[in-house]
Amino acid sequence: MIVLGIETSCDETAAALVRDGQDVLGNSVASQIKLHAGYGGVVPELAAREHLRAMDVVVNEALSGAGLKIQDVDAVAVTCGPGLVPALLVGTSYAKGLAAARGCPFLGVNHFLAHIYGSFIGRPDVLADPDAFPVLALVVSGGHSALVVIESSGRAHIVGTTIDDAAGEAYDKAAKILDLGYPGGPVLDRIAKTGNPKAYDFPRGLTGGAGKPLDPAQRYNFSFSGVKTALLYATKDRELDEQAMADVVASYQQAIVDVLVGKAIRAAAEYGTPTICLCGGVACNSQLRAAMGEAAAQAGRQLVLAAPKYCTDNAAMVAGIAFHYLSRGIASDLDLSVSARLEQNLGTIPFAPGAK
Ligand code: KG4
Ligand code: ZN
Repeated sequence: MIVLGIETSCDETAAALVRDGQDVLGNSVASQIKLHAGYGGVVPELAAREHLRAMDVVVNEALSGAGLKIQDVDAVAVTCGPGLVPALLVGTSYAKGLAAARGCPFLGVNHFLAHIYGSFIGRPDVLADPDAFPVLALVVSGGHSALVVIESSGRAHIVGTTIDDAAGEAYDKAAKILDLGYPGGPVLDRIAKTGNPKAYDFPRGLTGGAGKPLDPAQRYNFSFSGVKTALLYATKDRELDEQAMADVVASYQQAIVDVLVGKAIRAAAEYGTPTICLCGGVACNSQLRAAMGEAAAQAGRQLVLAAPKYCTDNAAMVAGIAFHYLSRGIASDLDLSVSARLEQNLGTIPFAPGAK
């Protein structure tokens, strides 16, 4: 089954053709980074307008990359939330029109679950292995920081989430404070490499540090607004030379990575998950990838890392997860609506080995 996936939840217009959930035949992403850079964040209406302009281009690029025609597509899948509503409406309207014209199945996909699926593109071995489950997914993107336990039956529950900023926001807001441009993740990742991560002792949010006892209900939740404020005060009214900037950034990144890795490893132990998967845009981060690799190995857990091109927003993850729903006979009606927020009930995860 060849699925055309479409993704427009934020500032990337993306289309991909994926066969049977694994073979990425064509994959095209048009980024709007330059358009939003001057605003220090994504402007929803501008994003929607740009998606409209780029949609046909990325779909045609994905088709020609795959050497396919639209007639070869068996189903159309699209992100229907969570995300920016004006942006989501462009992709879903386009996908509905295409599916109606082709007379093929149509499916709305949850962006958050699609990110998790991004870890498993190229890893059908893990998906076919009931012993690899339950899986603990750490989803870290511009919109989310969450820990999810997925059982082999496909039952899933969110065990931790952010109570304020997402991990990607912590990067983007820091870059804004330090005047390093947008998005912050890639630039901070690069600058941190030459800095001393011990130069500043930034707070590790919701870890019970600083002599405060940790509320057990918060043990897997995240908070990154405190570290951002600490960064603001540490750098206020200061001229930072290149080395001082690198030290600040490296220390800031260390605080974020320590919390993400520490909570994931503890949750994996508590929930007995032999596998940890790391996904979402922040999963591109070189230090996070390395630190999680070391910690998982030490804890005897298998780490499944999304390939960087399937970490940031893309449509291969959308088409990929869609295959698993569609092959179980699950599709959407053409009156499907979009949603800005993440529902706590994630439904049955269709790619789990025991999902019915
Ligand atoms: O998954 P994504 O493309 O979009 C959302 O669903 O939000 O994630 C975008 C986020 C941005 O906040 C960006 O700064 C962050 O991912 N990011 C990174 C890196 N590359 C992208 N964060 C840290 N290190 C990176 N190398
Ligand atoms: Zn995303």
